[in-house]
Amino acid sequence: MDQSHRRRLLERVEIRCRRLFTLCILGVLLAAWGCQNNGATTATTDNAETAETPVERGEHLVAVLGCNDCHTPMQAGSDGPAPDMARMLSGHPESMQMPPPPALPEGPWL
Ligand code: HEC
Repeated sequence: MDQSHRRRLLERVEIRCRRLFTLCILGVLLAAWGCQNNGATTATTDNAETAETPVERGEHLVAVLGCNDCHTPMQAGSDGPAPDMARMLSGHPESMQMPPPPALPEGPWL
């Protein structure tokens, strides 16, 4: 392979590398732009949700964050135990008798 042929080959490789680099930069910029757009979409959705009354917003947050899982009494339903939403977030029913605490050996436990 003579020197001029080798130089032309190297120039072609260099041009391709530059094109590839430019494409990568464009890809990164497009991805960043897409992420920003997604954020804007989410923010818009959030804004739409906050258009509710504060009480409805609170109810939504409590439902989404799973507070009912522990703070709403359960009742037996046709599909098994389910939260009794008539007593939503009322905590442990005062009338429910707890079993006596187990007899534990004297401490210290740690
Ligand atoms: C995994 C079960 C569980 C979940 C889920 C849970 N909690 Fe609790 N929460 C408890 C327990 C247990 C206590 C009592 C802790 C204690 O007394 O040391 C408590 C206590 C509280 C208290 C204090 C009540 C008091 O009288 O001092 C508040 C307020 C509270 N939780 C709010 C929430 C909210 C809001 C959510 C949802 C974001 C939530 N909890 C989700 C189990 C849970």
